Amino acid sequence: MDFMFFSSRLHATAILFFLLVNLLVHFGEAAFEMPKNATVPALFAFGDSILDQGINNFIPTLIKANFPPYGMNFLGAKATGRFTNAKTPVDLIAEILKIKEYVPAYIDPRIRDSDLITGVSFASGATGLDPLTSHINMVIPMMDQLQMFANYIRKLHDIVGREETDNILKNSIFLVATGSDDLVDNYFLYPIRRIRYDIPSYASYLVSKASNFIKELHGFGARRIVFVSLPPVGCMPTSRTLSGGKNRTCARNYNQAAKIFNMKLSSELDSLRSKNPPVNAVLADIYSPLLDIIENPQSYGFESVDRGCCGTGEIEVSWLCNALEPTCSDVSKYLFWDSFHPTERCYRIIVDVLMERYFNDVLSL
Ligand SMILES: *[C@@H]1O[C@H](CO)[C@@H](O)[C@H](O)[C@H]1NC(C)=O
Ligand SMILES: *[C@@H]1O[C@H](CO)[C@@H](O)[C@H](O)[C@H]1NC(C)=O
Repeated sequence: MDFMFFSSRLHATAILFFLLVNLLVHFGEAAFEMPKNATVPALFAFGDSILDQGINNFIPTLIKANFPPYGMNFLGAKATGRFTNAKTPVDLIAEILKIKEYVPAYIDPRIRDSDLITGVSFASGATGLDPLTSHINMVIPMMDQLQMFANYIRKLHDIVGREETDNILKNSIFLVATGSDDLVDNYFLYPIRRIRYDIPSYASYLVSKASNFIKELHGFGARRIVFVSLPPVGCMPTSRTLSGGKNRTCARNYNQAAKIFNMKLSSELDSLRSKNPPVNAVLADIYSPLLDIIENPQSYGFESVDRGCCGTGEIEVSWLCNALEPTCSDVSKYLFWDSFHPTERCYRIIVDVLMERYFNDVLSL
C-alpha cells in the first residue's frame, strides 16, 4: 500500500476520532437516554472515596476532605467531604437520571426524610474489601456499610411503608466502588498481606469478599447493582511517585493486580448471574476508558494526567492537600484533582461512558 495514502487516511481517521471524542465530551449528557418505561426512584452508593459524599466527616479518621481546597468548584467553594473539586460520580449519575442534584451521606445529621427516599451514600473514603484496609485507615468497613443499609431500610419502612420500600429497593440503582485502597494503601504499602498472599491469591480473596457483598445486597432486595471495576491504580499520581521509578511511569505491578482482580470479578459475576434465581450485578469497566485518557490526554483536552491539581500533585491527598497548598491554575486541564482522585471533569467523561455502555442493560433488569 502506498505509504502516503495510508498515512493521510490514518490522519483523517485520527481527526474524525478526535472530533467524535470531543462531541461525546461536550454533549456527553445526550449520549445516555433513559429507556421510556424505566423508572429509577433512588440512587445508593457503597464503597470508598470515589463515592463518599461526606461520611468520613462524622467518624474519627484522618482520611477526610472537608476543608479547602476540596470542593473548590462546588457550590461556591464548599468543602463537603467529597474527595474532589466538585461533584462525585454519585452526584453526576443522580443528576443524569434526574433523581436529584446532590446525594447526601447517610449519617449526615442534617438529612431529611425526603433525602432518604431518593437515595443516600454509605461509602467511606479509604475503605476496602479486605477488613484490614478499613482497620488501618479507621474508616467504615464494607460489612458495616451493609449494617447501615439495614438500618436505612427500617427507617424507609416507617416513612413510606413496606410496599413502597420494596418498590424503591427493586428499581433503584446500587453503585459499588471499592478495592483500590486494598491494593494501593494496604497490599503494596504494608508487608502484612504480601507475606501470606501473592497477587493472584490476594485478588481471589478480594473477589470472594466482593461476591459476598453483592449477595448480601441482593438479599436486601437490590436488583440493579453496578459494581465499578478497579481503575489502572498504578497510574494514580501516588503510585507513580512511590513505585513508578525516577520517571514516574505507571506502576506496572499495580496495574497488573487491578487487571487480575477485574478479570476474576468478571467471571464471578457471570457465575452469580447464572444462578437460579440469578444475582444480577453488572461489572462496569472503568479501567479501559481511564487508561485511554491517560494514554491520549490531548484527545480529551487534558494537559496533565500524571499529577494532581493540589500541591505538587505527586503525593498530596486528604490532610496533605490543604489550604496551605497551592492549586493548579486551570483544573479543567487536569485528570487528577489530588494524588489519588480524579477531577469532576474526568468523572463526567467516565460516567458518560459507563451510562452509555451499561445502564440500558442495568435498567432492563
Ligand atoms: C420496557 O419495555 C420493553 C419493550 O416493551 C420491555 O422489553 C422491557 O422489559 C420494559 N422494561 C421495564 C423495566 O419494564
Ligand atoms: C527516564 O526517561 C529518560 C528520558 O526519556 C530516559 O532516558 C531514561 O532511560 C528513563 N529512565 C528510566 C529509569 O526509565
